[in-house]
Amino acid sequence: MDNRRGYLDLLEEILSNIPSTAQSIANSFVAEHRRLESCPIVTIASYDEAALIRSQAKPQMDSRSIKEVLEQANGIFSNRIFNNHPRFFGFIPSPTHPLTLLGDLLLASKNPHAGSWFQSSGPSAIETGLIRWLAELAGLPADTAGGLFVSGGSMANLVGLQTARDQMLGEEWEQRARGTIYVSQQTHSSISKGLRILGFSNKQVRKIKCDENFQMDCSDLERTIEQDKEAGLMPFLIVASCGTTNTSSIDPISNIHTIAKAQVPPLWVHVDGAFGASVLLSKSHAHLLKDLKHADSMSWDAHKWLFQTYGCGMALLRDRRHLLQSFATGAEYTRDAVDSGDFESPNFWNFGPELTRPARGMRLWFSLQVLGLDAVGEMIDHGFLLAETVEGELRKLDGWKIVSNAKMGIVCFRYEGTGKSVEEWDELNAKVSGICIRENKSAALTTKLDGRTVIRICAIHPEMSVEGMKEVVRSLDEVARELAAI
Ligand SMILES: Cc1ncc(COP(=O)(O)O)c(C=O)c1O
Repeated sequence: MDNRRGYLDLLEEILSNIPSTAQSIANSFVAEHRRLESCPIVTIASYDEAALIRSQAKPQMDSRSIKEVLEQANGIFSNRIFNNHPRFFGFIPSPTHPLTLLGDLLLASKNPHAGSWFQSSGPSAIETGLIRWLAELAGLPADTAGGLFVSGGSMANLVGLQTARDQMLGEEWEQRARGTIYVSQQTHSSISKGLRILGFSNKQVRKIKCDENFQMDCSDLERTIEQDKEAGLMPFLIVASCGTTNTSSIDPISNIHTIAKAQVPPLWVHVDGAFGASVLLSKSHAHLLKDLKHADSMSWDAHKWLFQTYGCGMALLRDRRHLLQSFATGAEYTRDAVDSGDFESPNFWNFGPELTRPARGMRLWFSLQVLGLDAVGEMIDHGFLLAETVEGELRKLDGWKIVSNAKMGIVCFRYEGTGKSVEEWDELNAKVSGICIRENKSAALTTKLDGRTVIRICAIHPEMSVEGMKEVVRSLDEVARELAAI
């Protein structure tokens, strides 16, 4: 006997409610976007509020109306940072373009299994074409380059690191145990996490010094590689950054490449471009990234400076065959989706860690098709202008020190006068950031550079005005002066 009567009635009710619910979500999304400037930037649930929310996690036995659950969800979501707020400058903000709502909805509505060509030939062909185009933009060789869409920069870095390990050290653990890796003091933490996942100990990782521009110091790099070789170790990988998180510095990739390839055997160069690689689409600054062409592998996040919602990054390889050598597996239950092996009709489950994967590239494709490259280029260029505005305004004011000048959307600075210890000035800068957050003026968080607390602004929101940016500086200055006078 078919017992689904209750379920089928419920399904019908849900189906009939989907259009109006989607409309209401879209309405509130658009309304929120239009008043984004006045929304609270940072809301963190209190201990008691979090306990209340936690108690709402467990589902009930009975079904509930979509409307009721949606209202509840909106309440829960109000406890978050608006990462897409024009005055949120922390970490790498996420100034998602409103179009992504539609791209995401479209992808969710089709939900292809983009692990295999068999299941997702249309979206996989787009992902292949996009990856090829992005790799070409980076200057990687068109006839060999390839890659795949992954969930973000950490995964893209992991794919690059694993490929490097497998190509350079092979499968034997004895050999892997002798391998040494070169990162800089400014390399993103996802690299050390990735190396740990891959079985490397911290003892195998060398943190190369940075110069005054927070770029890898190539003399220290060369010296350290030499020392390791003399000690019988196997240097095999250098990780360069194209847009560090702290200061958006680009390491001297060309020099690093020369050093890497002069070794016997040559070292692999992985470039972390999770943040910076999007500048390849800038109309006026793409030349800054001319040395990306030297990468053996690189990461690139579309959910950072390509305005996508979270969960969209790219791993690009100079030689796509290396991906298959690291990730391809087979099983009897996937035999009907067998890999053609020709890279024109790929099974992406053989290119990276995931079997089941969404066609993430379709969201990016949707946005780029609708917006066009001119608009995207301008949106990226605006980030340069915003950070430069901050630096220019601060330079007009007494007491502010630019610790790292405006580079690719990021600038770091510190208020420091006389009559207090450096530690007290550290504390004051942290307080300035905290007060501006509390008063909803801006969320410019702090970081440490050369051991000192600095305020860091990552300003990449295409809807943030130059005048608005000047106002942010004015309010930081006002708060700093008030605190300094106490
Ligand atoms: C330079 C850099 N690399 C890697 C990552 C990690 O990327 P994701 O957070 O997408 O995993 C970040 C994140 O901010 C980053 O700034």
